[in-house]
Amino acid sequence: MPTVSLSTTKPATARADALIIGIRNDEDREGFSSALELLGFTGEKDQVVAFPSDGAVKADLVVAVALPDEPDAEDLRRAVARGVRAAKNATNIAVALHPTGVDEVEAIAEGIALGAYRYEVYKSKKKGKGAKKAPELKTATILSPFARQTLATKAVERAATVSEAVNITRDWVNTPPGDLRPTAFADAISAHAGTTVKVSVWDEKRLAKERCGGILGVGQGSVSPPRLVSLTYEPANAVAHLALVGKGITFDSGGLSIKSGTGMATMKIDMAGAAAVAAATVAIAKLGLPIKVTTYACLAENMPSGSATRPGDVLAMRNGSTVEVLNTDAEGRLVLADGLALAAEGKPDRIVDVATLTGACVVALGERTSGVLGNDYDFGERVLASAKEAGESMWPLPIAEEMKALVTSSKIADLRQHNPKPYGGTLYAAAFLREFVNDVPWAHLDIAGPSFNEGSAYDYTPAGGTGTGVRTLVKLALEMSSK
Ligand code: BES
Ligand code: ZN
Ligand code: ZN
Repeated sequence: MPTVSLSTTKPATARADALIIGIRNDEDREGFSSALELLGFTGEKDQVVAFPSDGAVKADLVVAVALPDEPDAEDLRRAVARGVRAAKNATNIAVALHPTGVDEVEAIAEGIALGAYRYEVYKSKKKGKGAKKAPELKTATILSPFARQTLATKAVERAATVSEAVNITRDWVNTPPGDLRPTAFADAISAHAGTTVKVSVWDEKRLAKERCGGILGVGQGSVSPPRLVSLTYEPANAVAHLALVGKGITFDSGGLSIKSGTGMATMKIDMAGAAAVAAATVAIAKLGLPIKVTTYACLAENMPSGSATRPGDVLAMRNGSTVEVLNTDAEGRLVLADGLALAAEGKPDRIVDVATLTGACVVALGERTSGVLGNDYDFGERVLASAKEAGESMWPLPIAEEMKALVTSSKIADLRQHNPKPYGGTLYAAAFLREFVNDVPWAHLDIAGPSFNEGSAYDYTPAGGTGTGVRTLVKLALEMSSK
C-alpha cells in the first residue's frame, strides 16, 4: 500500500510524478483551461483526463478529475481512485481535491489506498514489452490546508488501517481456491491477526467435540477438512460487545447438488464474508476502539464425494437443533448456523453475519448492493446508516412472515434447510439463520453480488474481490463504541 502523507504545499509547487487535481468549477481550471478544452473535458461526472504538465506545475503529469460543486466524502473517494488509476505508472503522486474537513481528508486517503490496489501475485515477472507488472504507487501526498492538524493525521492513519483491511480481504478473495483451502485460510487469518487479537482455531476433531454439525456436514465431502477460526478483541474499556460471523466456503462446488460449470466458475469468492469479518476485527483492534468483538469465521470446502453430505441427511447443529438437508448447494446457512449459535452463547449486545449467501439476492438487488435482513428493525437501520457513511451500497429486505412456517416444516427434523419453491430465496435463508441467534439483535448482510467485481475496475472498486462489508463493520463498531 502507498504511504499517504499530508502537506500544505500548493498544487503548482508539489513535486510528484503526477498531480491529481479535482475540477469543480472554472476557478479550478485556471492554468489548465486550454489543455482541458482540447481534451474535451467538460466537468461531467466521472470524467478524467491526463496530460503532460509542460512546466505549468512541478509535477510531470496532470490528472484532472471532475468533481461536483460540493463533493461529499464518497465523491472524493471515487474521484481520487479514478485519478490514481489514470496515473497508472506513477510511483508518487500529489492530490489536490480541495477537502473541506477531516472526514474528506480521510475519504481521499482511503480512495488512494483502495484505488491503487492490484492483485498480481500470480502474474509472471516479464520485463519490457508485454510486461505484466506496472510500477506500484509508493507515496501519495494529500494537499490540504488542514495538513498540520493532528485530527487530519489521525484520519489518514485510520484510513490506512481500514484500507489495509479491505485490501487483505481482496487478496484472500482473489487467491485461487486450491491455494486457500480451510487450513491455509485459517493460517492466513492467524498470521494476519498476529498478536493484535486472540486467535483460536478448531480443527475437525474439536468441531466434532463441540457438536458443530453444520460446519462438519458441509466440510465432510472434501479431503481438506473444515476449520472454525475465533478471534477475540477485548479492551479493558469496552462499552459494548459485538459478535461477527462470516461464511468461509473456500470453494463452493455445490456439493452433490453440484453447480453448473458457469455457476461454479467464480465460487472461490464464497469465503468473502469470513474474510471481511476477520479483517474488520483486526482493523477494529488496531484502531483501539473501546468495544469487545468476538468473531467466528466458519471455514469449509463444499465438495461432492463419497463422503459428502447427501440431500436427505439430517445434521445435528451446535445449538442442539436438527436440520434436514435438501440441497447441498445451500451450504452457507449450515456453516453460519453453528457460527451464529456460538456467537449467541457469548451473549453479545449485537450480532452481524456477512455471507455470499444467495444468488437470489443478486437477482433482487443487482451486483453492487448487499441485502440487509435481521430480527431487529432499529439495529438494521443502524447497520444501513453505517453502510451509507462508509460508502457501501446496502438495502433492507424483509424476513417475510410466511418464512417461519416454511423453515420449520421438515417432517423428520426440527428445521428444513432448503425451500423447494424458487421464491424469496434470500428471505428464506435469513429466516433459517434467525433460528440460531437466540433473540440477540442481529443483522445479516448478504454480499453475494458486491463481494466480487466480474467486470473491470471502476472508481475504487478493482476487478475481482472488492472487500465489501469491511468498511461498514468498522463504521458500525465506531458508532457502537461512542454510546
Ligand atoms: N455461494 C452461493 C451463493 C452465490 C451465488 C454467491 C452467486 C455469489 C454469487 C450459495 O451457496 C448458493 O449456492 N446458494 C444457492 C441456494 C439455493 C440452492 C437455495 C443459490 O443461490 O442458488
Ligand atoms: Zn452453494
Ligand atoms: Zn455458497
